[in-house]
Amino acid sequence: MSAGAQAAPRTAARLDRIEPFWVMEFAKLAQQVAQGPACDPSRGGRSMLYLNIGEPDFTAPERVREAAQRCLAAGHTQYTQATGLPALRGAISAWYASRFGLAVDPGRIVLTAGASAALQLVCLALFERGDEVLLPDPSYPCNRHFVAATDAHAVLVPADAHSRWQLSAAQVEAHWNTATRGVLLASPSNPTGTSIAADEMARIVAAVRARGGVTIVDEIYLGLSYDPRFGRSALALGDDVISVNSFSKYFSMTGWRLGWLVLPPALVAPVERLAQNLFICPSTLAQHAALACFEPESIAEYERRREAFRARRDVVVPALERLGLPVPVQPDGAFYAWADVSRHADSSWALCERLIHEAQVALTPGRDFGPAHAERHLRLSFASSLERLEDALHRIGRVLG
Ligand SMILES: Cc1ncc(COP(=O)(O)O)c(C=O)c1O
Repeated sequence: MSAGAQAAPRTAARLDRIEPFWVMEFAKLAQQVAQGPACDPSRGGRSMLYLNIGEPDFTAPERVREAAQRCLAAGHTQYTQATGLPALRGAISAWYASRFGLAVDPGRIVLTAGASAALQLVCLALFERGDEVLLPDPSYPCNRHFVAATDAHAVLVPADAHSRWQLSAAQVEAHWNTATRGVLLASPSNPTGTSIAADEMARIVAAVRARGGVTIVDEIYLGLSYDPRFGRSALALGDDVISVNSFSKYFSMTGWRLGWLVLPPALVAPVERLAQNLFICPSTLAQHAALACFEPESIAEYERRREAFRARRDVVVPALERLGLPVPVQPDGAFYAWADVSRHADSSWALCERLIHEAQVALTPGRDFGPAHAERHLRLSFASSLERLEDALHRIGRVLG
């Protein structure tokens, strides 16, 4: 070792259980190709179409941005309470009442730095070494890593199209053992855009409750629901259900880093204690801006956007079908289609690489979302304009013949 060179510091063993976030790694490949000749207009190239990113193409509406500007101009940038601005907790509670017909005490709502911090806080509060938590495979990759970061074990239970790619109550019962502490679900789900039906969710909550466990439901895509048979919050099933939510998706505020938890009353104080120590508070600027999300003009804008997402789904899913990339379960929410590649390839990773190079279209191979369906499926995000989506589908069709 040369003088001055440092040995790499020893890292904690828990890092061995955290896989790379392949969505991000794949995005790097797409960006590399985007800088090469295939995408260079002076050499006849065309731009890369990014359908791999789980982020709305819309940004925060004008009223929300104006509220942020007013907040800055007035210098309202000090810390808030760890649980968030009381006015914002109240506005979220009122939103549950008007949109979902649910009475949620503002005292159960804790604002966080995105759903990511919400998941981290709740996992740290509940899980530890030796515990097991059940999740469906496929599911949002970070969710199992939030569990792993507490030294608990995330048990991925293979789901299938019959259960809408979600855990069923029967699976929860079958996989429960003395170490199991609960379930971590997402409805609607990333990567499939599919929800757990209300009666099945009720059976899951009852099964978990009967075993003394916790039901955590990541409802970050609940605002983006397109089917009246779904789109209900699991909070209706009792005060013991924990809901994770965010301003990132329906409210189009990804980079503002703001989300929230709805907790059983007895968990508020422990989570507040953790939040005070780990985060102090979520972004003050984002919280002041988010108050404007609930003004009627903003909600009207968000509803127009929800309709735009639904219209895109209605173009994308049948088009994928025609391309030989069927979507076994129609997404009822979010902005993802989970398509079966088996007619064209043995490996969704290889197919996605091919489409980046030959079609200049970036999609996400299944690998991120768990091993059960990794090779056979890919995720297309339709959080892009209809024009871009149609262009991408056309290009994919040319490559696949
Ligand atoms: C299911 C799910 N949960 C949580 C998150 C994290 O969201 P946030 O931006 O609120 O941290 C995402 C982001 O894509 C997601 O898809």
